[in-house]
Amino acid sequence: MKVFLTGATGFVGLSILKELVSVGHTVKGLAQDTAKAEAVRSAGGIPVLGDLLVPAPWSESVKDSDVVISASSPFHITERLSLHEAERRAEAHAEMVGNLIHASTNAHVQALILTYHVTAFGNQGDHWASEVRMIDPVGLSRPTAGKYWDIERAARRAGLPTIEVFPGWVYGPGSWFKHYVVDGLKAGTARIVGAGNNYKSLIHIDDLAAGFRLILDKMPVGERFCLVDSTPIMQNEFIKVVAGEMGLTTPDHIDYTRFADTMGEVLAEALSSSVRVSNAKAINELGFKPKYDNCRQGVADVLQEMGIRISEKAA
Ligand SMILES: NC(=O)c1ccc[n+]([C@@H]2O[C@H](COP(=O)([O-])OP(=O)(O)OC[C@H]3O[C@@H](n4cnc5c(N)ncnc54)[C@H](OP(=O)(O)O)[C@@H]3O)[C@@H](O)[C@H]2O)c1
Repeated sequence: MKVFLTGATGFVGLSILKELVSVGHTVKGLAQDTAKAEAVRSAGGIPVLGDLLVPAPWSESVKDSDVVISASSPFHITERLSLHEAERRAEAHAEMVGNLIHASTNAHVQALILTYHVTAFGNQGDHWASEVRMIDPVGLSRPTAGKYWDIERAARRAGLPTIEVFPGWVYGPGSWFKHYVVDGLKAGTARIVGAGNNYKSLIHIDDLAAGFRLILDKMPVGERFCLVDSTPIMQNEFIKVVAGEMGLTTPDHIDYTRFADTMGEVLAEALSSSVRVSNAKAINELGFKPKYDNCRQGVADVLQEMGIRISEKAA
């Protein structure tokens, strides 16, 4: 298939790109500058230069695509975001995706695949959530799903079929896992926010990419899928697993307000919210079979990939 991918230079997008290219899809990847375009090319994609907020000339490259994947983000994971700033970014994101919808209209495009985050379902406590939950974004989903209904309406009005993907927290050798967890544990700055007995639904980056490949195989238009492993884990347990694998002690807890003051309200809300999500629909309807069904082996493998070897862990 011919695929147009936004966010192709990002943590999630680059991994989707590599996976799709590896099974023979032709992937055009949007990049904002020439250095990043080179990363798309090295990964086997065809770079297209452009800014989603400026709807030309990249939009012409969308026209002959069979599938369009939106995997951009209106913020960087290292940014300290207030709830107010998250609202502003949500507007920017709706504009970015709106321009993509416009470019995909009256073209060959069979479906637009939209990438969200399981925190778009809101704080669920101990209850299991699935694709049928209402959208009520918290934390990192505020900037991407804050204008969910505007995006949904724009696609519907354009007559563009969509498939919505809700990945869990994606761990791999980058993004929040590297910045906040691994580097934070090394520097002694990582903290468990609040009591830590809230659920995180996770997915290894390779399993997420495989999930996108299955979606392209089946093309389940009009559907939503949660791509998560089978074993949601509490925040405090997860930090304990990573710290243990690194040969470090589990860090202290920090009060929500103090954490929000230093790291921003959006991250504080994201880390302390509880979202325990089922992958049953992806397993049954896509044939999704995560290699890492729980995060323990996945974390060990990612740390190894990051060069934190078993022999060095205890050092
Ligand atoms: N990381 C996770 O754990 C995780 C978990 C679940 C869901 N997701 C979802 O996955 C998606 C991507 O997240 P990510 O972690 O991969 O983010 P990321 O690493 O920050 O990547 C964001 C991508 O969007 C691009 N972008 C931003 N503004 C743009 C613009 N105006 N025009 C064109 N491209 C633009 C960036 O380009 P530049 O590189 O040039 O800035 C980059 O390629 C988001 O929807 C996020 O909610 C992520």
